[in-house]
Amino acid sequence: MTVNAESSTSTASSWRDLPAAQQPEYPDSEALREVTADLAGYPPLVFAGECDQLRDRLGAVARGEAFLLQGGDCAEAFDQVSAEHIRAKLKTLLQMSAVLTYAAAVPVVKVGRIAGQYSKPRSKATEVRDGVELPSYRGDSVNAPAFTAEARTPDPERLRRMYHSSAATLNLVRGFTTGGYADLRQVHAWNQDFVRTSASGQRYEALAREIDRALSFMKACGADPAEFHSVEFYASHEALLLDYEAALTRVDSRTGSLYDVSAHMIWIGERTRQLDGAHIEFASRVRNPVGVKLGPTTTPEEALAYIDRLDPDREPGRLTFITRYGAGKIRDLLPELVEKVTASGARPVWVCDPMHGNTFEAASGHKTRRFDDVLDEVKGFFEVHKALGTHPGGIHVELTGDDVTECVGGGDEIFVDDLHQRYETACDPRLNRSQSLDLAFLVAEMYRDQ
Ligand code: PEP
Ligand code: CO
Repeated sequence: MTVNAESSTSTASSWRDLPAAQQPEYPDSEALREVTADLAGYPPLVFAGECDQLRDRLGAVARGEAFLLQGGDCAEAFDQVSAEHIRAKLKTLLQMSAVLTYAAAVPVVKVGRIAGQYSKPRSKATEVRDGVELPSYRGDSVNAPAFTAEARTPDPERLRRMYHSSAATLNLVRGFTTGGYADLRQVHAWNQDFVRTSASGQRYEALAREIDRALSFMKACGADPAEFHSVEFYASHEALLLDYEAALTRVDSRTGSLYDVSAHMIWIGERTRQLDGAHIEFASRVRNPVGVKLGPTTTPEEALAYIDRLDPDREPGRLTFITRYGAGKIRDLLPELVEKVTASGARPVWVCDPMHGNTFEAASGHKTRRFDDVLDEVKGFFEVHKALGTHPGGIHVELTGDDVTECVGGGDEIFVDDLHQRYETACDPRLNRSQSLDLAFLVAEMYRDQ
């Protein structure tokens, strides 16, 4: 081992000296040690060079030359790792991306909340039902949702399943995005099952016909670039379980730098972004592009401190701020943050998560979000950036390709009374395919008008 690698190894574990919020309490620490030792020997899920490429792409977003579309489940689940679910999610993201690219005429950087999004922070450590108190469900990587002591006990073997589920998902994603399925000439095929049943599907079909005509025109002119035949698609998740992320952190032989090879991009959530905590420390040590979720309590001073810790070299694309204020707060609170960050000379990517500040409980007990609130927060985000002359860099959304009834509203309207029909999320309510496409059309309009 070289001196460089040794110092990298201690750098990689510096987070262990700091408090780490939201970590599971495993009853058997020896079992955890065995699993993480095995994980440390498993092959990387992504390559360092791919992470660098995404950082470059996000650099273009930071400079105002591209737009980030980041989306997927709130929580992936082990029993949803199937070709059908993964294809539907990918299809939805590809359709949204086609709408944004064509209607807003902007390159779209596509990043899934996929192939690793198995861990959830919880506001309450325990859940009480009928007087019985058990640990909260923290995602399939930690425990199971059933309300029994056995299901809710954190099991480190689940980290191994997280790795294998991520690998299987990523393998299929890579197959779909490079093996012809994501070829732009398939714009109609992605919509086939959808066009007959949905207004947004029909609207999309009209746009797909225009794309087709443009492609035929270009082909007739002799242009058929490789970019039309496959897409660059990246994987991201919240870096929550530091034992897992650290076991998948490796020294890149080309550069000697550390990369978290569990995903191309990782982000730190609203509940674990303590400046003196383990998560920020961990993120500061890896070269992946990193995101930080910023809720309405974030002060401009905190934002500047994140920049110093995570992006000391002010490298465009390294740091993404994902704001999640809520529709009622974004117009009041975001301007000061953006203003002070911009005045400092930093150029983070600004992304709007219009989901997590707009959650409420319906009378039926379902956790839900109104499509109109989601839209209004994105509108507020665009307004603020337009007023300040900064770039509205992207959206971060929870969605699924399945026809679920989890968020209310949208063109094919879901009513509060419909929520029970197909409420399948393992955690937060997701936009269904029709709502996702509606959102893409509306965001494309906002982007064009900014
Ligand atoms: C999430 O992205 O699912 C999440 C928990 O978000 P936040 O950290 O912003 O609350
Ligand atoms: Co969520």
